[in-house]
Amino acid sequence: MAKAKVVLAYSGGLDTSCCIQWLKETHDLDVITLVCDLGQEAEDLDVIKAKALKIGAIESLVADVREEFVNEFLSKAIAANAMYENKYPLLSALSRPVIAKKLVQVAHQYGAEYVAHGCTGKGNDQVRFEVGVHALDPDIKVLAPVREWELHTRPEEIAFAESHGIPVDATRKSPYSIDDNLWGRAIECGVLEDAWQEPPADVYKMTNGIGETPSEPQYVTISFENGLPSAIEGKPMSFLSIIEELNLIAGTHGVGRIDIIENRLVGLKSREIYEVPAATVLIEAHKAIEDMCLDAALLHQKLEMEHKWAELVYNGLWYSQLKEALDAFNAVSQKGLSGQIKMRFHAGSCVVVGRKSTNALYSQSLATYGDGDTFDRDSAKGFIDLWGLSTKTWAQIHKDEVTKKVDAPDTSPVTKTTHVTVMDTAAKASDDDTKEYACAL
Ligand code: ARG
Repeated sequence: MAKAKVVLAYSGGLDTSCCIQWLKETHDLDVITLVCDLGQEAEDLDVIKAKALKIGAIESLVADVREEFVNEFLSKAIAANAMYENKYPLLSALSRPVIAKKLVQVAHQYGAEYVAHGCTGKGNDQVRFEVGVHALDPDIKVLAPVREWELHTRPEEIAFAESHGIPVDATRKSPYSIDDNLWGRAIECGVLEDAWQEPPADVYKMTNGIGETPSEPQYVTISFENGLPSAIEGKPMSFLSIIEELNLIAGTHGVGRIDIIENRLVGLKSREIYEVPAATVLIEAHKAIEDMCLDAALLHQKLEMEHKWAELVYNGLWYSQLKEALDAFNAVSQKGLSGQIKMRFHAGSCVVVGRKSTNALYSQSLATYGDGDTFDRDSAKGFIDLWGLSTKTWAQIHKDEVTKKVDAPDTSPVTKTTHVTVMDTAAKASDDDTKEYACAL
């Protein structure tokens, strides 16, 4: 009788290489490996493919999902200005639902009952794979060898590999756990687990340290069309090429390093180092175009929902109805969001220094304090009267309470002293003309 099949998300590393053997041995399955190319730095994909077959996979597949990752996933992340806990642009969280989708597709193609991943039992990625897979096929069975097997230490794993002829030397040995793709690199473990320890220089691969960055600033103009980046320096490029180009430019200037403590879904805090050059630049530039073009009420509503979007994606709910509903809201907000953002890169920083859009709601003639002002100051008084009417009415009705707030004697036994800085109006105004006065409250 033919054996049941499993599709394993494969990286070519030691863990997933051992998974091939373990799935055959422990579950008596035929193993089909699947490597998803998301733009990660990897050995030659043909070499990885051959390695899986050598270890005993019946089929070894490589899927180039870069375009899909960019156009279906990162495009929505840009629309959501996606930053988990306002700091992490979700590079790993965004890649798992793409891989989950491919695993299910291949399982259906090959009639496999199972899919498998090489995540540990301690991280978020296991959640993202399994919730993602079951959102796309609730009947498929998921196996997580690394969570189940008895190989608790690296030497145990190496011994298992060696006893089964799994090539250990060819697997990349790194003191860190690394996950990377077009959207950046995540680095964990090793010395980084000591939250007091500054990351050693060797954790970084995509970004220069400040000492290695160019001494001169570089200006780069990024164009957007309907909320998506469309050109660099006026040269039309695909979203994928823009990400690749900005990873190089921003990386050269040391932009996009993040060192944080992050709250994992599984309840623990972890220390994470990220390198996200293009993601940092594109989210900043995208926010700047939104600032120019989005109506205030829409912008404020969107800001509240962005936090929720990032949390859902971090927590493995890419394929949830709520997340899809938020995407629909974001899609409406991105219509007509077109224009140019000028950014200056220098010594680890990238700042927006100019913006323009034919759809801008920012109007210089309304904003100016100089010539050509078209703002109608006369309507300000009436506006303020009505805007403040309810608070004023409340104050009239509750006069005693209001009076107490302002005129009650200070009963505190200690006189507090504070410092206020005031301009010396007698002297000519200059930065040196400020004086400090102590005053009792
Ligand atoms: N903490 C990040 C996240 O949960 C990154 C995980 C990266 N995974 C890894 N194997 N290094 O999204």
